[in-house]
Amino acid sequence: MKCKDYFNKVAPDIDARAWRADNAPWANWAWRIVRKEINAAPGSFIVDLGTGTGNAILNLLPANSGARFLGVDFSEEMIQRARLKDYGSASVEFRVSRIDRLSLPPNSVDYFISAGTFHHIKNKSRVLQSLSAMLRRDGKFINVDLFQPKTRYLSEMEELRRQNPEAAVENDRVRQQFQWIYDDDRLHPREFHMDPHDFAQLLENAGIGPATVHVSLQPGWAVVVGRKAAARATETSEAGQRTSRRAVSEGVVAS
Ligand SMILES: C[S@@+](CC[C@H](N)C(=O)[O-])C[C@H]1O[C@@H](n2cnc3c(N)ncnc32)[C@H](O)[C@@H]1O
Repeated sequence: MKCKDYFNKVAPDIDARAWRADNAPWANWAWRIVRKEINAAPGSFIVDLGTGTGNAILNLLPANSGARFLGVDFSEEMIQRARLKDYGSASVEFRVSRIDRLSLPPNSVDYFISAGTFHHIKNKSRVLQSLSAMLRRDGKFINVDLFQPKTRYLSEMEELRRQNPEAAVENDRVRQQFQWIYDDDRLHPREFHMDPHDFAQLLENAGIGPATVHVSLQPGWAVVVGRKAAARATETSEAGQRTSRRAVSEGVVAS
């Protein structure tokens, strides 16, 4: 099934079925990182890529109520449900659009946020180049996603799990509860997973660097954050940017 058709089909149930900050420790961990990364001044522009039913916006609203939010998704059914939610008096809009066809003024976005979406996008490099042009200098790109980790990330994750054995066991116990979703799902569209550090490299190649990889206890789950370089920093060599990238594993335990 095509990706857009799939998400239109699952939209009515997605809020009931999906993992969220309140039912999954890895999601709770990721949203705490995202909230820490976003400190939006009034009037800042936050764009949620693959917004689904608008949950990321609801999550970020309390601490960023003066910001302007735009949720983008190619699924009409998702956007219809997102529009029905209560955002109070905040400035929240939604747009039906493919991410690769999104058109916003150059240097207009303060934060791009995306959750669980980029693994559905095949040509990430081209999409990130085009999004980078819309991101202000010093603006951030935050991607919470499912990845296919390679050796470096796997060893960082194993180390984290060794240091936090009880949290790792709890993480795995809850993750097991969601396994039926995957076992049950024969229609899921093809996915294009990549390694989190490789994604960070793509961000840097698009001028959104240096990027930081936040390591989670959940295999294949990470948060990658890049900041678009200020004017002079873009002249830094690619090699220089690469060495400055960090992997961090703060705050692994759900609270
Ligand atoms: C797993 S859902 C995540 C929804 C939401 N971000 C959340 O965390 O609740 C992925 C969303 O990305 C959207 N999506 C996937 N590929 C897309 C694309 N190329 N352009 C726009 N939206 C896309 C889907 O329609 C779906 O709503």
